[in-house]
Amino acid sequence: MGERVVVLGSLNMDIVVSAARKPEVGETVLGESVRYVPGGKGANQAIGLKQLDADKKMLGVIGDDIFGEKIMQQLHQLTIDRQHIKQVNGTATGIATIIHTPKDNSIIVVPGANTACTTAYVDEVEAVIASADVLLMQFEIPLETVKYALQLAKKNNVTTIVNPAPAQELTEDLLRYIDYITPNQSELAVLLDNANEDLETIFKQWNRKHTTELIVTLGEKGCAYWDGENVIKIAAKQLGEVRDTTGAGDAFNAGLAYGISKRWTIRQSVLLANTVSGLAVTKFGAQAGMPTKQDVNRFWINKL
Ligand code: RIB
Repeated sequence: MGERVVVLGSLNMDIVVSAARKPEVGETVLGESVRYVPGGKGANQAIGLKQLDADKKMLGVIGDDIFGEKIMQQLHQLTIDRQHIKQVNGTATGIATIIHTPKDNSIIVVPGANTACTTAYVDEVEAVIASADVLLMQFEIPLETVKYALQLAKKNNVTTIVNPAPAQELTEDLLRYIDYITPNQSELAVLLDNANEDLETIFKQWNRKHTTELIVTLGEKGCAYWDGENVIKIAAKQLGEVRDTTGAGDAFNAGLAYGISKRWTIRQSVLLANTVSGLAVTKFGAQAGMPTKQDVNRFWINKL
């Protein structure tokens, strides 16, 4: 049974400004704190998998600055294999500026070294991708690289999952290499030309056009998928007081990739994904919030 998950994606330093609320346009508000914590959708998802004890590898690119060093230290502390992470000279590591309020967050990413995650880099790490069972990617690295890695994965029978964040318009010549796609509602609106329809219509039209399995995350409402006949909505799990929603989507994707790598059904995988993200939002920090296998097992009947 295949279980190796490879995450190809971004590594960022998150500059998190916490405030009681976001400023309105043109307004200044006083914040409560500013914290520097490693993030990036790719790294967050790899750490989410690591905390679940999955067999995983992280691929991506950092700069040769202090933020790159801090990120490498964090990966080392978490015993994540850093062997294939590339450091490029004279380039700044990716940065995310995050406004964090008790209810939600807004993020601006400056990709920096993540743009050096090129097709040439994919060639360098080809063997790692080819030997995976699941390849998990997001859109904080160049789309051209995502497509190239997807093609390589499919050539080697690797199952592919794409978390299309930040949103990008996609065409069938890329979608045909994606087995599972996991947009939230705003990302879905960018993917579709019928985003105002109800979910049932959206799923029916999607399935007519594409072979990719669509799994839509619905924030505090949970998520939805198609079981072949109907839309199935799975409610979000409230597993404690919500402290930080940053990385909730990353936690979901880590849980989903874990289930898919174990060849679980979509339903089982999505239930786990909901549990992982439900726990992640109860702690501060996209990476620090990723629940461990033991945390999940408190809410998971069959135990991981
Ligand atoms: O999904 C959350 C992540 O988005 C943050 O860690 C930030 O780096 C941005 O990539």
